Amino acid sequence: MVGLPRVFLTRLLPDPAMQRLWEAPIHLDVWPEPGPPPYNLLLERVRACEGLLCLLTDRIDAALLDAAGPNIRVISQMAVGVDNIDLAACTAQRIPVGHTPGVLTEATADLTLALMLATARRLVEAANDVRGGRWRTWDPLGWVGPDLHGSTVGILGLGRIGAAVARRLAGFGVTLLYHNPRPSPLADGLGATLAGFEELLSYSDFVTLHCPYSPATHHLIDASALARMKPTAILINTARGGVVDQDALLQALKSGRIAAAGLDVTTPEPLLSDHPLLSLTNVVVLPHIGSASRPTRVRMAEMAVENLLVGLQGQPLPYCANPQVYRPSDASGP
Ligand code: DGY
Repeated sequence: MVGLPRVFLTRLLPDPAMQRLWEAPIHLDVWPEPGPPPYNLLLERVRACEGLLCLLTDRIDAALLDAAGPNIRVISQMAVGVDNIDLAACTAQRIPVGHTPGVLTEATADLTLALMLATARRLVEAANDVRGGRWRTWDPLGWVGPDLHGSTVGILGLGRIGAAVARRLAGFGVTLLYHNPRPSPLADGLGATLAGFEELLSYSDFVTLHCPYSPATHHLIDASALARMKPTAILINTARGGVVDQDALLQALKSGRIAAAGLDVTTPEPLLSDHPLLSLTNVVVLPHIGSASRPTRVRMAEMAVENLLVGLQGQPLPYCANPQVYRPSDASGP
């Protein structure tokens, strides 16, 4: 093993990516547990590594870069979002960070539609009632909810995933609004109208979040945003938990300020089973499975391995979250 680049992998990956890593000319150290390595252990295991292949559940900060030391050549993450990584610190140290853009767009958009329908038509509550023996008869008043078809849907963040959601919604005959800091080049042909943030909140029957998580979008949906929404509105979040002030959401759902929420992402993850959100019947919480279609996860792992192996060779990463590292004059920020 002497002379081979050392790599720490923070979780087992699906094949064929995992197989490719076993066969690669690297010294591979794998965290074999089903959960992420505790942060202190991560600090120990990255010591003297040339490469790190990590997940969105790992905190990659300046202290970790210090622990890794000067040999670290590449950090490759199996996710498109890199909000768990201090990208500015990596860029300042000229460490390229790999991620997996594009590949999970369609799977995440599919799940967004699933959450819209599940919350509006109360699928989880209804299915639980069947299992729990509470289905007595066909009930004219039972399990009714709003229509998705013909509704007004507000997309907060019309990027790749937001646009894929919009394309699917064309089949539901909805009125589409979107809000971005600037008009989105992806809006053409989607029939989506640019709206102000507050306007979108107050007109939409469904508000669906597709913005990246950053200090600018932290708690974007807070008590005052929720207060602008219709009492019949449904909030969908397949972006990041931190975009929503969850305590404010809990109050809004309990008090009937909004009707329901479908959340694939929460703060923290996992949400403990005694969390008050989980006692509400008007909430569907999923365990961050937006990208969890088999082909998508397989491809994400392949892209992450590709980034890692190319980075170890000192070549530019094919899917790089901080391409500034390759521009000599411009390596100061993400
Ligand atoms: C990502 O890649 O950022 C997704 O959240 C994973 O599902």
